[in-house]
Amino acid sequence: MLPTRKDFPEGFLFGAATSAYQIEGHARGGAGRTHWDDFAATPGNVVNAENGDLACDHLTRWAGDLDLLAQGNFDVYRFSTSWARVIPEGRGAVNAAGLDFYDRLVDGLLARGLKPALTLYHWELPSPLADAGGWRNRDIAGWFADFAEVIGRRLGDRLWSAAPINEPWCVAWLSHFLGHHAPGLRDIRATARAMHHVLLAHGRAIQALRGAGVGNLGAVFNFERALPADDSPEAARAAATYDAYYNRWFLSGIFRRAYPAEALAGLEPHLPAGWQDDFDTIAQPLDWCGANYYTCKRIAPAPGPWPALAEVEGPLPKTDMGWEIHPEGLSFFLRRMRDDYTGELPLYVTENGMAAPDEGDPGNRPDEDRIAYVAAHLAEVRRAIAEGVPVRGYFCWSLLDNYEWALGYGKRFGLVHVDFATLKRTPKASYHAFARALAR
Ligand code: FCB
Repeated sequence: MLPTRKDFPEGFLFGAATSAYQIEGHARGGAGRTHWDDFAATPGNVVNAENGDLACDHLTRWAGDLDLLAQGNFDVYRFSTSWARVIPEGRGAVNAAGLDFYDRLVDGLLARGLKPALTLYHWELPSPLADAGGWRNRDIAGWFADFAEVIGRRLGDRLWSAAPINEPWCVAWLSHFLGHHAPGLRDIRATARAMHHVLLAHGRAIQALRGAGVGNLGAVFNFERALPADDSPEAARAAATYDAYYNRWFLSGIFRRAYPAEALAGLEPHLPAGWQDDFDTIAQPLDWCGANYYTCKRIAPAPGPWPALAEVEGPLPKTDMGWEIHPEGLSFFLRRMRDDYTGELPLYVTENGMAAPDEGDPGNRPDEDRIAYVAAHLAEVRRAIAEGVPVRGYFCWSLLDNYEWALGYGKRFGLVHVDFATLKRTPKASYHAFARALAR
């Protein structure tokens, strides 16, 4: 059972989230090529080499998808704009059909009484910009600010909120150090540059959006609770290092104009010259802050160069992603944000949810694991609120089963099932649970 609206303060918002490349169908509508198309076309990167060419075909089915949000009694929809759909080459000419699509989407949300919560960048970098060095190139901050201005001018008058970049850690570390996401690099110098440029681009985009008159601007971070694998001081140190480059780097940059020492220990030699001078741009004032939270990790020391650590398997029950279910981590991060970085700034849980296997008739499965996962995390949100943390909303990831990046279409996070052969949508029991809990 999910808690209901009445269990939260008046005005608390409930939403569902998606992203452009994961649902739209990127091959259609005049969008340019992205580094995710290139990454997926490289053998071994993505399960079954699947890509976002068709995805959920949201590009043509968007109206029905927005009806699902409205009928689910949600208040707000977090979606993203594809840079390459709007500006196919990343710089220069705008694809009118792409911009028109988002214009209709925003109007469609407002017509249904839903608030549009926009993310500008959820990972599909236009390939020509990747050719020019992508996140390694400092110029990306200017290219991104130009894109932000195009979007801000066209949609800004009707948005409820806007955030520049989804999950800077994934843009930088996961994609340039671990090589798990596009562009698939494993290079510490590239990583350090991406870690810094992603924040510079964030700051420039906030300036551009504000300049275009867009209000309610925020940032969306992802957090993983870093738990030492054992009681040794070495494991504690390894977990602190992981926590520094994963959870604290981006918050520190924006809210404290500094990077954590444990992360600088490895990254400083590789940062671009003059990085210390960029904090005036990076630390633009924000109106809210978002946390994406799914899991914890057990961190052990490991031989080799910095960061000299490894993830080891933990004991808790796991989702279909193999991610441990650790709801207390959510209130931990909400509390930490308030105490150490954001103070009285409104906080939102901008993503939370779980992948569960696709078994049997999707309309008749109890889907109880997903409902229990959401309920346990909403309980932690309530706990944080009771402690005075200013949490103002919760978004479930995701409205639809979709393209789960390197894991392709096999990992199903949707409240609504998608049959990828027919593209038929079938609301799951978790969707109906939300609809009941949120009914007015
Ligand atoms: C987050 C991403 C989102 C989705 C979920 C499961 O890191 O923002 O696109 O992949 O994880």
